[in-house]
Amino acid sequence: MARKAFIAGNWKMNMTAESGKQLITELKPLVKGAKCEIALCVPAILIPAMVKAAKGSKIKIGAQNVHFAKSGAYTGEISADMLKEYGVKYVIIGHSERRQYFGETDETVNKRTLAALENELTPIVCVGETLEEREGNKTEKVLARQLETGLNGIEDITKVVIAYEPVWAIGTGKTATDGQAQETIAYIRKKLGKLFGVRNANKVRIQYGGSMNANNCKGLMAQPDIDGGLIGGASLKTDFATIVNYDK
Ligand code: 13P
Repeated sequence: MARKAFIAGNWKMNMTAESGKQLITELKPLVKGAKCEIALCVPAILIPAMVKAAKGSKIKIGAQNVHFAKSGAYTGEISADMLKEYGVKYVIIGHSERRQYFGETDETVNKRTLAALENELTPIVCVGETLEEREGNKTEKVLARQLETGLNGIEDITKVVIAYEPVWAIGTGKTATDGQAQETIAYIRKKLGKLFGVRNANKVRIQYGGSMNANNCKGLMAQPDIDGGLIGGASLKTDFATIVNYDK
């Protein structure tokens, strides 16, 4: 089952219009020959300028969150319509930092994911266990809950991208080993098979995220169930292009 590789950057709360524009200008020629799909998920306020900067290249711009309501009294939030107006194609949903600091739950992840799909945005739904959960042998249980609730009611799961981001590997320099990442992502695919049918599960792209960088990307991408990466720190520099070109 051929799944197109998908490398996405998550700038988190980094960069400015000026530095972002400069980085994208540097990245453009470097990613020209890439075969994978490429996205940079940038802070909302930078979206218009980054869409403009990335024009004419393979880099598509994504957001880092979307509200589930069409519009209304939700101070500080951003709707799918607003994102689409600027040419946004992807949106990260349920990142562990949002779960940890901003009260995101499996239920709100579900509502945001359904809203993204209704509006033809590709959701990148993040799941992953904490170190405590891994050490307590609860990884599969936690992932099962995140997937069951977070993806509840989705009609076409093949339109969703899943990012497996073990919380203990995010920003820590502690990457999951190729084997750990493969084993856990294979479990996620098996669970998707139970929820949505094996044929559909085999079409879903699952990224690995957590200290993925120019050095370890090749080994991770060589794993049979790993279809891409969600890159934090390394997407803030031209290393991102090295990851995008992992197959060269
Ligand atoms: P790092 O690559 O900085 O560990 O971040 C991963 C991440 O959280 C991407 O969403």
